[in-house]
Amino acid sequence: MKCTQIVFSPTGGTKRVADIVSEGLANDVEVIDLADSKISFSKISFETEDIAVIAVPSFGGRVPSAAVHRLQEIRGNGAKAVIVCVYGNRAYEDTLVELQDAAQQAGFCVVAAIAAIAEHSIMHQYAAGRPDAEDRKQLAGYSSQILAKLKSGTVTKLSVPGNRPYRKAGGAGLVPKTVKSCNNCGLCAEQCPVGAISKENAALVDKKTCISCMRCVANCPQKAKTLNSAMVGAASLALKKACSIPKKCELYI
Ligand SMILES: Cc1cc2nc3c(=O)[nH]c(=O)nc-3n(C[C@H](O)[C@H](O)[C@H](O)COP(=O)(O)O)c2cc1C
Repeated sequence: MKCTQIVFSPTGGTKRVADIVSEGLANDVEVIDLADSKISFSKISFETEDIAVIAVPSFGGRVPSAAVHRLQEIRGNGAKAVIVCVYGNRAYEDTLVELQDAAQQAGFCVVAAIAAIAEHSIMHQYAAGRPDAEDRKQLAGYSSQILAKLKSGTVTKLSVPGNRPYRKAGGAGLVPKTVKSCNNCGLCAEQCPVGAISKENAALVDKKTCISCMRCVANCPQKAKTLNSAMVGAASLALKKACSIPKKCELYI
């Protein structure tokens, strides 16, 4: 069986989880990168017998809006989908319900949902090193359960945690600043999922467009994109209670 991963993963945590889940479903895995603004998503269509793993991070308890819009351009045509929400050990609130709605609106038939944890991409001390060996074991087990459900042909109405209407989307408000070591190589502008960084001058960032996804911070070879450490420190302190106790992955099937 072939499996197509449809993934939005600015700093790689969501992709790591999606890899574990999709490799447990099929040997042959193709990837559609929802973070690549150059792809014509409206040209992508699935067939009923296909299986897709649709994976996004939780940003403020919601699906990043660029991921919703791009997913909705794809034509699911009744293909089976496993939806995956990856969060940094605080909470994922309405991410799974929003992803379920977006996948269904794109024409996918959602057969299972997973919530999993990956290292927090802003406050790295939370969920550091996850997904870990225990997560891998759990996620591989989920893939087996999903395969068994697909083989049995059982159709159930899937109910996932979260509320409609969804909570208000709010940006993290943390726009990375550019420091002296920047040599304007252009990588950050090229990779920014929402085109917020000027190709001519990497220090020019459209603050309204930036989604604070941290891709430029994570991938800059010069370490020239950084966050205000006082702001990250304050946010870390405010979220300490909510983020510190390790949460477990969850399967809805
Ligand atoms: C802007 C932003 C908002 C986030 N909001 C949440 C959140 O509400 N709850 C949570 O547990 N983690 C949150 N995180 C952490 C990410 O969900 C987590 O680190 C995820 O693995 C990032 O995916 P990626 O590595 O694929 O980029 C947030 C991270 C960013 C950058």
